[in-house]
Amino acid sequence: MDRENDKAKSLLKQLTLEEKIGMIHGAELFATKGVERLGIPPLKMSDGPMGVRKEYEPDSWKALDLSDDYVTYLPCNSAIAATWNRELAYTIGKVLGEETRGRGKDIILAPGVNIKRSPLCGRNFEYYSEDPLLTAEMAAAEIKGIQECDVAACVKHFAANSQETERLWMESVMDDEVMERIYLPAFYAAVKKAGVYAVMGAYNRWKGVHCCQNRELLTHVLREEWGFDGVVISDWGGVHDTELAAQSGLDIEMSVTDNFDSYYMANPLKEAVERGEIPEELIDEKVLRILKLMERLHMFSDDRKQGCYNTPQHRQKALEAAQESVVLLKNEDKLLPLKPGKITSLLVVGDNGERLHASGGGSAEIKALYEISPLMGIKMFLGGNVRVGYARGYLVDEETQQEENWQETSLENGGGSMGADQSSDADRKARMELRRREAREEALRMALEYDQVIFVGGLNHQEDSEGHDRDCLTLPYGQDLLIQELLKIRPDTVVVLMGGNPMEMGEWKDSAKGIVYTSYAGCEGGYALASVLFGAVNPSGKLPQTFPKKLSQSPDQALGEFGLKDQVHYREGLLVGYRYYDRKELEPEFCFGHGLSYTSFAYDNLTLKPLKEGKQSLIEVSFRLSNTGDRDGAEVAQLYLGGPNRQESEPVRELIDFKKVFLKAGESAVVTFEVPCSEEKAGVNLVYLGSSSRDIRLEAEL
Ligand code: BGC
Repeated sequence: MDRENDKAKSLLKQLTLEEKIGMIHGAELFATKGVERLGIPPLKMSDGPMGVRKEYEPDSWKALDLSDDYVTYLPCNSAIAATWNRELAYTIGKVLGEETRGRGKDIILAPGVNIKRSPLCGRNFEYYSEDPLLTAEMAAAEIKGIQECDVAACVKHFAANSQETERLWMESVMDDEVMERIYLPAFYAAVKKAGVYAVMGAYNRWKGVHCCQNRELLTHVLREEWGFDGVVISDWGGVHDTELAAQSGLDIEMSVTDNFDSYYMANPLKEAVERGEIPEELIDEKVLRILKLMERLHMFSDDRKQGCYNTPQHRQKALEAAQESVVLLKNEDKLLPLKPGKITSLLVVGDNGERLHASGGGSAEIKALYEISPLMGIKMFLGGNVRVGYARGYLVDEETQQEENWQETSLENGGGSMGADQSSDADRKARMELRRREAREEALRMALEYDQVIFVGGLNHQEDSEGHDRDCLTLPYGQDLLIQELLKIRPDTVVVLMGGNPMEMGEWKDSAKGIVYTSYAGCEGGYALASVLFGAVNPSGKLPQTFPKKLSQSPDQALGEFGLKDQVHYREGLLVGYRYYDRKELEPEFCFGHGLSYTSFAYDNLTLKPLKEGKQSLIEVSFRLSNTGDRDGAEVAQLYLGGPNRQESEPVRELIDFKKVFLKAGESAVVTFEVPCSEEKAGVNLVYLGSSSRDIRLEAEL
């Protein structure tokens, strides 16, 4: 490391102010300037969480339209979180790292670890969970995988960036304790546990100051308290002031416009240094950190890992992750798995049956090498002897043609909007209603002609998208009516809902026997879904986010604020997600951590053993987990800590650890956790072990 520092320091000494300035701001939309005479390359970056983004012109949001920038489309972070499998998160990180390096990039602008505070946030599909621990654990694993490939992960968006509405200016307001316990732990884990090399600041403000130029956040918390020694990059267009940015601890300013020399940390900063208003040492610190990052990535050596993309192995990993991400929400009368041998004809109903999602959602868009839709996955699974039909059933709002890339104008109107044209032209609406009725009637007619009906609906990237939030939780495009009518005539219809967010279930929910939830699950998503529906894979996904019965139940609505333009008060405090439902004894539609299996699991023999006594004690918690059904399967055992006597503002219990355990039919295993307990947490005296946050199977006093 010393030798590395020496190299970085010696390079720094040889740089002119102009060259240094070139290294600390975007000189292209996704790259900084290198210094050729000294062999310093530019830093090349790319989005994003679901794979490496396509190539754009260096100075405009026009895609280059290449034939060689297709990539493996990976499951989104909501899907990865639903696997509750750290090893798998690590593996997907490794795939993403290899693809990033394979495409010749240095930094992948991922993962997004913001907390899903509200089920309405448009970017929730890019984030993991409402729970800080699950988010932290999955993200840390993924970052480790990415960075093993000589590329930097850039964990984003630091911090408290949980809404898209007015995202460039809104201020997230909360107590320090809430920030520390809910919104920062995933970033802390990225730094401390995974040694992340880069952090991206957020667009929003915190304590009155934009996060990308917020000294308290970027220097005090990140560097001084946590010891982060990597590089801080702004979100694209997140900087608003030269001096603040220069002093804040930010290292690289990026933006969406092509006036690179006029960026705040470009000529304006150079001139401020020349005038003596800002010390050059500040620039040196930034450049040194960038040079050290280059060293870490072996950018100056001949033995840098080369990476690879679109390999069959990557596709296989994408499939495995997608299969583990499917969540079985409801399965009455063992409707699922369907028995392929007994089905001679099957109808898929719903726009999501056929829709491809990879290229949507905002900066997380992917130019997928391929994407298997649910319809194709089902056909691939069943083969040619089964007659598979398709009815769209519901129609998505007409998508308006976007002439330019949305990101080009994303700094306008307070944060850009990627949504479809919301014009409420009465004629168009009436025409659409008519077409929707026809589509619905056609699906209902066809539903009687097949042995089995599978509805595949939910959300898409018109709803789940960067740049805007949803305004309600109900299923869009008249799906409730369609599902309800389908279930009336075909009570055995399997309902599959897809999305990066919860959705309200209509009245139909009680009559549906089988409900399955899947996120945007990558290139193999459709096949993964089919393998679960037909029982080749036993579902083992669990919800990383509570599904409310109604939007009004959600804590950001009931106690706090959401989607406002200026300040947004996080009045629910610590009671985010299940913490709120448990505290208020509310029944959600499906609780955090919920997910069924085709087999059953029993929990017994809970034992607690002190490993270390004192102020910071350590306790070993172990129990026996048995697969009591007739299929091999995996269970996510969830360990919560809490107690009934905690203060009202505290959660009754909080997730403290989890383990995903694969067991053959009839097999048992002893599962062990090590639980740190500090005396400071008043009222924490119970350990809960559950199959979900509500299905607590074992309980013991600490
Ligand atoms: C997003 C970031 C993204 C960046 C670059 C911004 O709009 O907020 O997550 O990495 O653009 O595309």
